[in-house]
Amino acid sequence: MQGFKRTISCGLVTQDFLNKSINLCGWVNKRRDHGGLIFIDLRDRSGLVQLVFNPAISQDALNLAHSLRSEDVISVEGVVVERSSGTINKEIATGNFEIQVNKIEILNKVTKNLPFTLEEADKVEEELRLKYRYLDLRRENVREKFDLRNKIIFAMRELLQTEGFYEVETPILTKNTREGAREFIVPSRIHLGSFYSLPQSPQLYKQILMAAGFEKYFQVARCFRDEDLRADRQPEFTQLDIEMSFINENDIQSIIERLLQHIFKKIFNVTLNLPLQRMQYKQAFEEYGVDKPDLRFELKIKDFSSLFKNTEVKFLKSVLDQNGKIGGLIVNDKQFTRSELDALVEKAVGFGAKGLLWIKFTENGQPESPIAKFLPSDFFEQLKKYNPKITHSDSLFLIAGQYDEAWPLLGRLRLQLGHDLNLIKKDELKFLWVTDFPMFEYDKQDKKWNAMHHPFTSPQEGWEKLNLSDVKARAYDIVLNGIELGGGSIRIYKKELQEKVFEIIGIDKKVAQQEFGFLLEAQELGFPPHGGIALGLDRFVMLLSGGESIREVIAFPKTARGSEPMMEAPSPIDEKKLKDYGLTFLPSVKKVEK
Ligand code: AMO
Repeated sequence: MQGFKRTISCGLVTQDFLNKSINLCGWVNKRRDHGGLIFIDLRDRSGLVQLVFNPAISQDALNLAHSLRSEDVISVEGVVVERSSGTINKEIATGNFEIQVNKIEILNKVTKNLPFTLEEADKVEEELRLKYRYLDLRRENVREKFDLRNKIIFAMRELLQTEGFYEVETPILTKNTREGAREFIVPSRIHLGSFYSLPQSPQLYKQILMAAGFEKYFQVARCFRDEDLRADRQPEFTQLDIEMSFINENDIQSIIERLLQHIFKKIFNVTLNLPLQRMQYKQAFEEYGVDKPDLRFELKIKDFSSLFKNTEVKFLKSVLDQNGKIGGLIVNDKQFTRSELDALVEKAVGFGAKGLLWIKFTENGQPESPIAKFLPSDFFEQLKKYNPKITHSDSLFLIAGQYDEAWPLLGRLRLQLGHDLNLIKKDELKFLWVTDFPMFEYDKQDKKWNAMHHPFTSPQEGWEKLNLSDVKARAYDIVLNGIELGGGSIRIYKKELQEKVFEIIGIDKKVAQQEFGFLLEAQELGFPPHGGIALGLDRFVMLLSGGESIREVIAFPKTARGSEPMMEAPSPIDEKKLKDYGLTFLPSVKKVEK
C-alpha cells in the first residue's frame, strides 16, 4: 500500500493514544485555514478526527495541506495531543484530541467538481444522489442505516442458527410461481425460445426443502417483482424467508417473536414484551378498514348505518337500500375550519370516494353539515349511543357505500387524519399479528376467485361446507406501525387439497400438471405438514432506522421508475446479442440507442 499503514480508525482516537505517534487514513471532510495553521477534519467509516498542520511541526506537510479539498483521500502520520479547553468539540467522539501532523501523503486527489457536497446532499434530486451513490453513502447518517442493517442480519442469523435452522440458497433462475405479482423474465441462450423467471420469493423451493426433510430452513433471499413501485416497494428486495415442518401457526409466530426479541435486546437493549398483540382480519377491516392497522393511534371506524335508517338524504338512502353501509370516524375535540373540511373532502375524493360527508356541532349541539337540514333535532343525542363520550367540539366524517369499498376509503381517511392532526405517536413501535385471513378473494374484473395469500396456503378446517367468501386461510401477517412487515401461512401438503384449491382459482388439471407437476408429485412421495413466513427485511430496517422509504436502506436501489442511475440499468442491448437469444423487437417497440 502507498501511504502509511494506519494504526487506528479516525473515530477511535482515545486517551490511550495521547502523546503517541499514529497513522491515519481517510477522506478530507473539511479544511479550515487559521492564520498560518490548517485544520482538517479527517473522516473514515468510524467517524471524524481533527488534524492540525503547523509550520513549526512540518512546513512540507503544511504546504501539501494547502492544496487539499473535500473528499481528497490522504494518509497522515502525527502525534495525538489534547485540545486546549476552549477548543474541545463535544459534537464528535474524538473532540478532546487533535493530531499534530508531521507527514502527509495524498493517496488520491479529487480532480473534478463534486456533483454535490456531502453537506448539501439532502437538497439535491434523489436521481443525482443515486447516480453518485458512493458519495451519498459516505454520509454518516446514510451509512448508519447500513450499519443497522448489518447488525440486524447478523442477529437474525445468530438466533436462527442456535434454533437449529439450516441456511440454504435457492435458485435465482427459476420458473414462474404464480404468487400474484408480475415476474421478470430472462431469455435462455441454450434453450432458445424458453425463459427463466426471477423468483418473486423462494416459496416453492422452500416447501420442497421440507419434502427433503430439512425441517427448519431460512434464507436471506433476494426476490424480484415487476410491479409498480411505492415508498415501501422495490422491484428487487430482500426477505428473511423461513419454513418449518411439523408445526402450527403458533410455532411460526413464536419463532418470529423470539427473533424480534433477540434483535431488540441485542441492538437496542430493549425488552420486547411477548406475545405480540393479535387481531383477526375481520376485526382489523371492521375497525381500521385495512389488513395492516396502524395502532399507534385510536380513531376507529364505526358503522353508523342504523343512525340513518330513516334518512331522507337521497344518496344515503340509496346506499342503504342496496345493502351498503355508512361508516364513519369521530374526531375528538377538533373544530375544523371550512377550508380544512374542503381539503379533507378533496383528499377523500382523491382516494376514490364519491364524497365525504362531515357533521360538526354548534356550542349547543346543533349539527352543522351540508345535510344539516335533513338531520333530526336530537341528532347529537342519537350519536351518543355510538359514543357516550362525544362532545359538541367533536366532528363526524361519513362515507357511504358497499362495505368492501367504503371501509378501505375510511381506512385511508383515518390515516390521513392521524397524520394531519398529529395523532400518531411517532416514537412507538406497534407490532400486530393479523390472523384468519379470507382464503379466497373475488376479482370483480376477471370474474374469478383468487388465493388471497398464495395458492399453496391451507384453508382452515371445515372449509368444504362454507361459501368461498367465508373460507378462512391458515395465513397470518405481521404488521409494524401500519406497514406489512411479513406474511406467511401453513401450507397444503396433500395432493387432493392442492388440486382442489387450484381448481377453485381457475388452474385446471392440465395447467396444474404443467406448472406444478413437481409439487403435486412431491406431495405423493412423502410430504410433511409444514408452514412458514417471510419478513420484508428492507421494510424492517427502514422502520427501525426511522426512515420513510426502503430506498434509504438498500445500497443501490432503483428509482421510482425502476432504473438504477449509476450503472444506467436497464440499458439497450445490441442486435447481435438479441440474435443469440433468438429475440427480435416488435415493430411497435421504439428502439433505444446505446
Ligand atoms: P409476501 O408476498 O407477503 O409473502 O412477501 C413477504 C414480505 O416481503 C415484503 N415485500 C416487499 N418488500 C419490498 N418490496 C416489495 N416489492 C415487496 N413485496 C413484498 C413485505 C412482505 O410482507 N412467499 C410468501 C411468504 C410465505 O408465505 O412464506 C411471500 O413472499 O414485507
